[in-house]
Amino acid sequence: MSNLDGKRLLLGVSGSVAAYKSAILVRLLRQAGAEVQVVLTEGGSRFIGEATLQALSGRPVRSDLWDAAVEAAMGHIELARWADLVLIAPASANLLSALAQGRADDLLTTLCLATRAPVVVAPAMNRAMWEHPATRRNRALLEADGVTFWGPSTGPQACGEEGVGRMEAPEQILERLERHFAPGPLAGLRLLVTAGPTREAVDPVRFIGNRSSGRMGYAVARAARELGAKVTLVSGPVSLPTPEGVERVMVESARQMEGEVLARIEQCDIFVATAAVADYRPREIAPQKIKKGEERMELALVRNPDILAEVASLPDPPFTVGFAAESEALEDHARQKLRNKRLDMIAANLVGPGRGFEEEENSLKILWNGGGVDLPRVRKELLARRLLEIVAERYHEKQKHKAQGA
Ligand code: PMT
Repeated sequence: MSNLDGKRLLLGVSGSVAAYKSAILVRLLRQAGAEVQVVLTEGGSRFIGEATLQALSGRPVRSDLWDAAVEAAMGHIELARWADLVLIAPASANLLSALAQGRADDLLTTLCLATRAPVVVAPAMNRAMWEHPATRRNRALLEADGVTFWGPSTGPQACGEEGVGRMEAPEQILERLERHFAPGPLAGLRLLVTAGPTREAVDPVRFIGNRSSGRMGYAVARAARELGAKVTLVSGPVSLPTPEGVERVMVESARQMEGEVLARIEQCDIFVATAAVADYRPREIAPQKIKKGEERMELALVRNPDILAEVASLPDPPFTVGFAAESEALEDHARQKLRNKRLDMIAANLVGPGRGFEEEENSLKILWNGGGVDLPRVRKELLARRLLEIVAERYHEKQKHKAQGA
């Protein structure tokens, strides 16, 4: 059976000659068992007829934000909630620009603002338009908002040129969708992940921070999504795009991170604390920029809340995974944190020059009560996946024990 069976896909078709491929795509998606609702933009309708898309999808095509018959019942909001995924194929340069600006002046752009489903775009345009700085800017903005780009691919273009800008083949898009909806060992589970550094303000322009780039935590969030979980990422300030299909909440300080985590923790099954949270913050934040004065200056610090320990000591805590960043005696210190904070598992890494922080690769010692496993140095994406496969195994084991004990 296809992973798309019963999935509800909202297919946006915008103005590009590649719109003919969307007809083939609709056919493939229907054959895979998906329900497909086509939303055609005005530009899209210049390239392909409603009748074709309606016949292939088995549903009336929607194109008008001002259709009184459906909009009396807030049809666009209903559609936005209906979709498991919004796919715009082809996505023209104009459409990307409208999405990047957050515009809502037609049905498709309005739906993209209103939906909480993942939004994926398959761009199609002339190669010079794809390479234009404005399109690059729009892409960066959209990726930061969590929009995923599939393609474009390279080859001969309708305009006679050759280069990057072709919409991916419908078969390729179908394959990506199959992977997107593939059930994994974390299917149906909700994960909350913290990532990145925190910044503790000293005055309006200065802060105490650390070297965390967010790479490890973002890789954990991405891998959890790929393994089937619904993922929320609470992130300190980093310059990484939101991983596909992940809900991201940005924070600055440890106390903001604590607030956002605690507000969501009851709805989550697994908590992974990858963030490098500042243990201390300045006792007071100077209201104005501190002026240079005396030869010496002392800054009084106070303890920050320990978010991980707080979560683990809740009356009904989620499966709780901590990280331990150590510069020596890795296993001893990590086991101590595992015990003291009463965690289900801890992922320990050695940190220092060229290790842990900021690097693209990392190694982890995974420990739990009565066991452990070493994961050798590889790229953080792969490491995160291995870590989460172990987390999934131990989570299900714990649930089994709970059920037997009940
Ligand atoms: O972001 P990168 O550049 O990719 O680097 C990755 C990393 C080195 C930051 C990551 O692998 C890592 O080790 N994260 C944890 C860093 C850390 O704060 O370790 P710790 O040993 O000080 O804290 C132990 C645990 O308690 C951590 O899960 C931490 O998130 C949590 N904690 C700590 C202090 C605090 N006030 N609240 C917390 O929740």
